[in-house]
Amino acid sequence: MCGIVGYIGTRQEAAPLLLEGLTRLEHRGYDSAGVAVMSARGVRVAKRAGRVRDLQDALPKRFAGKAGIGHTRWATHGPATDANAHPHADTKGDVAVVHNGIIDNAAALRAELVDAGVTLASDTDTEVIAHLVGRSEADTLEGKVAEALARLDGTYGLAVLHADFPDRLVVARNGSPLIVGVGDKEMHVASDLAALVRYTTTVAHLEDGEIATITAAGFTTYRADLTHTSRTAAHIDVDLAAYDVDSRDGHMLREMHEQPAAAERVLRGRLVERFGTAHLGGLNMDVRETRAIQRVKILGCGSAYYVGQMGASLIEELARIPADAEAASEFRYRDPVIEPDTLYVAVSQSGETIDTLLAVQEIRRKGGRVIGLVNVVGSAIAREVDGGVYLHAGPEVAVASTKALTTMFLGFSLLALQLGRVRYLSVADGKRMVAGLQALPEQIEQVLALSDELVEVAEQLAAAQSLFFVGRVRGFPVAREGAQKFKEITYRHAEAYQTSELKHGPLALISPAVPTVAVVPHDELTDRNVGALHEIAARGGPLVVVTHAEVDLGDVPCRRIDVPRSERELDPILLTLPLQLLAFHAATHLGLDVDKPRNLAKSVTVE
Ligand code: G6P
Repeated sequence: MCGIVGYIGTRQEAAPLLLEGLTRLEHRGYDSAGVAVMSARGVRVAKRAGRVRDLQDALPKRFAGKAGIGHTRWATHGPATDANAHPHADTKGDVAVVHNGIIDNAAALRAELVDAGVTLASDTDTEVIAHLVGRSEADTLEGKVAEALARLDGTYGLAVLHADFPDRLVVARNGSPLIVGVGDKEMHVASDLAALVRYTTTVAHLEDGEIATITAAGFTTYRADLTHTSRTAAHIDVDLAAYDVDSRDGHMLREMHEQPAAAERVLRGRLVERFGTAHLGGLNMDVRETRAIQRVKILGCGSAYYVGQMGASLIEELARIPADAEAASEFRYRDPVIEPDTLYVAVSQSGETIDTLLAVQEIRRKGGRVIGLVNVVGSAIAREVDGGVYLHAGPEVAVASTKALTTMFLGFSLLALQLGRVRYLSVADGKRMVAGLQALPEQIEQVLALSDELVEVAEQLAAAQSLFFVGRVRGFPVAREGAQKFKEITYRHAEAYQTSELKHGPLALISPAVPTVAVVPHDELTDRNVGALHEIAARGGPLVVVTHAEVDLGDVPCRRIDVPRSERELDPILLTLPLQLLAFHAATHLGLDVDKPRNLAKSVTVE
């Protein structure tokens, strides 16, 4: 995890540029931040627990230097303290290192350094790298870094500053992204394009195993044995405006309200009305290959996993292909059987989530075909897959995914429709789905218009310490996603359950202090769902029911929230939206930082 920046030039001061870059990387971690610059008298470090703006406020007045590195942290080893913040230095203070990733053999290396008489200043895995570089007897900084890297097991994107080599930064990548940006007599380094694009759109992505020397004049890349590689920088086309997001009212609120437009974008040009189908050109599969698919396996993490479950239902319903979703974080470790006639689908907003990326690599290693549903263009997962669907949600900054999730659902709808129409889905049913999809942006708008009405009920839910979110079949992933949103931004315990399973255990917890948010669409299970609501009400459990106007809830005491109906297969996305709004209003009422919930990060780039 964590965000890394680096700068070296001849005219500009490094510190302001580094701080600006770090504010654009806070989605990678925001529990502490730090910078180091090459001053006239050697390496100087400023770092502290808290946000980048806290670091900015605390920065010494004179913190001059035309080369430097910076870091925003999401703690892995050791709590968020000033001492554990990066950059980390060696004993003499000549070396400064920022690092994204995890060093798996850090404990052994720490013990070895302590035995050698080194006093460690932090609990981190990163500090060992600074000491290993500082203790290396190699003549060049590249040599010192290569020697240190040879001792590490694990993942890293890192940048090193050394007082004896003031004309350069040395950076390295193994499993965590690192991008070099070429300017005019100046160079930038970052773990994410977002921190670079304001300065340059000429960039080079380092590959795993590469080391690079960065000077004001350019960069040179090497393998671990310091033989040269031939990486060159290339111009990339980026929509600069897309990176300049307005944060006045907070990102989550803005992003929720961008959902109708995002939905239109993901559908644009991909629906074929006449034949009642979808056309996803990026899948790179012809009709025969598409027909040969016997199974679909969807992999994602967090909200992407839950929307993957919604996607699996869509594919089973529309294409009648057995489909399921699995947490990508677990998949690789159970030595999965990779089947040649299974279509694997990796779903990710960032395209960087390491668990999802590693799952993709495992599938490809075993010869499986994997496509991506990815938002960030050119991201690691997008580059790794055999084909895919870009989601066009636009940049999503808030940790809690809203508009990206909605476009993921629509991406799955398009995929299910295309898979269905080369199999058994009739033209008539295909047309029904196309019309349903075309109506969704407007219906999403209608649900978002309920926002103000939901403030009061959200405040009531916020008063509970513990809540249930329940649903059945299509409604269950909706409940899971609702619980995830609620817990991640309100810090309340929110547990998702199949409504049908309540009576097999959790009903014991229902009481006036434990509200339940129930997802009850108008479908073949409505009666069963209403029965369960009675059972909850009979035990004094307060109820909020997200449902359709057509559903008769009888005399169940509850606060009902009606959303417009779509085609039954598409209903889940409209049922999900009020749950976003409830979580948002509850967290706002509690005075919490909705966009940057504690302990989390948006892009989870460590296992
Ligand atoms: C993190 C975020 C979640 C997100 C998940 C997957 O855990 O906090 O909101 O759903 O990563 O992210 P991805 O970028 O792969 O969609």
